Amino acid sequence: MEKAVATAQAQPNIALIKYWGKRDVSRNLPAVGSLSLTLATLWTRMKVEFSTDFDRDCLQVDGEVAVDMLPRVSRCLDQVAGSNRPRASIESHCNFPIAAGLASSASAFAALVVAANKACGQASDIFDEETIAAVASRDTLALARLAGAASGSAARSLFGGIVELATGDDDIDVATLLAASTWPLRVVVAVTERGHKSVASGDAMILSEKSSPFYSSWIENQDHDLEVARSAVNDRDFEKLATVSEHNCLKMHSVMWTSRPPIVYWNQGTLACMEAIRDLQSAGQAVFFTMDAGPQVKAICQPDNEALVMQTLSEVDGVETIMSSGLGAAACILDDA
Ligand code: DP6
Repeated sequence: MEKAVATAQAQPNIALIKYWGKRDVSRNLPAVGSLSLTLATLWTRMKVEFSTDFDRDCLQVDGEVAVDMLPRVSRCLDQVAGSNRPRASIESHCNFPIAAGLASSASAFAALVVAANKACGQASDIFDEETIAAVASRDTLALARLAGAASGSAARSLFGGIVELATGDDDIDVATLLAASTWPLRVVVAVTERGHKSVASGDAMILSEKSSPFYSSWIENQDHDLEVARSAVNDRDFEKLATVSEHNCLKMHSVMWTSRPPIVYWNQGTLACMEAIRDLQSAGQAVFFTMDAGPQVKAICQPDNEALVMQTLSEVDGVETIMSSGLGAAACILDDA
């Protein structure tokens, strides 16, 4: 056999306690731990085909050749399949807007690593012995570390439900804290802009480290926030999780805003959604917001008020689309048939 092919699917994840900052840029190790929700209904599907017939890697995203993202994807494949690997054709499909702060790189790199690793294991005649031995020994954590080396948040999409990532001594540790079925949280996403984000999160966090006077206190306080969030999750304490998550999100955005030049991902729609969520909270609704490196607002709520949260956010000026999801499963291989 001269080719090896596999397809995998991964769901994006939404961080409640955020990753912002790198401890080691060359290995892409995060400076802080993080805690996230893996979604159920949004996905990226990646088909990876290695073949000795290809003379270079080729990436297509939703049917279009994607040159910009290719070097990062090729580097990730080198890590999974060795730098002497055959070249690959990679096809990515996504059912939500890419690069608009909806964690598309998380689901993309998680799916890429899972598909590439599976493909390597299928055709021993085109990979070197070292790669074949490495592939055979990889567990989910090893795959998460490879995904994290490509994009920090991608490591979390290897796992389902509520996921915690710890910085670890030499590499990250990441695992499910609570299974998706154990606490049926809902995530309502208000899309306030469909365009690509202005500054990539990786570049932005390096800028924050260099220039924000708040960066060091952000790092110092993260363990405390993680501890509070972890205990809130273990006790299914929505109120406690809401308070620490909003606080952590606003701290991350304060670090961004106080970077030089400032990094501002929000737009008017973002602020209007936050206000609408505050009004719901004042009316006694269990709901809270979080935002990442983009203007979209994610409202975390419960099954019984999900319809109300969706209806309220859909009426906010500047909201283009509303999506909603429960908590979902880990990245997995799809049957190509
Ligand atoms: C704001 O994982 O995209 O979404 O490691 O440079 O690829 P790189 O960064 P990335 O950063 C995500 C930042 C965030 C917060 C989070 O998801 O924890």
